[in-house]
Amino acid sequence: MKKNPVIPYAIIAGLGLIAVIIISVIGIDQRQAIENEEENGEEQTEQAEGGEEGGESASADAGEEVFQTNCTSCHGQDLASGPAPDLTEIGSKYSQEEIAEIVENGTDGGMPSFPQIQGDDLDALTEWLSEHQ
Ligand code: HEC
Repeated sequence: MKKNPVIPYAIIAGLGLIAVIIISVIGIDQRQAIENEEENGEEQTEQAEGGEEGGESASADAGEEVFQTNCTSCHGQDLASGPAPDLTEIGSKYSQEEIAEIVENGTDGGMPSFPQIQGDDLDALTEWLSEHQ
């Protein structure tokens, strides 16, 4: 009996089809895995941003608190009503770093130095002041 010449081709075609199905199934799995990862990633960055926003407003409050504790006796509660210079537009006169330097070192003109205000307190205070422009 003569072999049917089409059979080898049919087998190859069948194997090819199976391969295509397997690869596409794997592909879908991987795509879902990637999508899941992306979703998680987005959530995480959203959370991080939310956290940062919270941090910013907290540090603004902290900055004002440091000011109310240490500076109002001379600069006034509203930054303008004390005997010392008006600070309501201090952010357009000095950078945050320059304000930090004045707070740390004081000035010859009567501004005392505040070596006890450091780290987060100093950052919060100077950031809050530099926003007054
Ligand atoms: C004992 C009074 C006194 C206290 C307390 C005080 N200051 Fe001053 N501050 C002054 C005086 C006086 C000057 C003006 C100094 C000068 O002209 O050299 C000044 C100047 C400044 C300036 C520069 C203003 C400018 O226009 O050049 C900044 C900024 C400032 N103070 C921030 C602060 C901060 C922040 C605090 C609280 C941590 C504070 N000061 C507490 C008296 C005070």
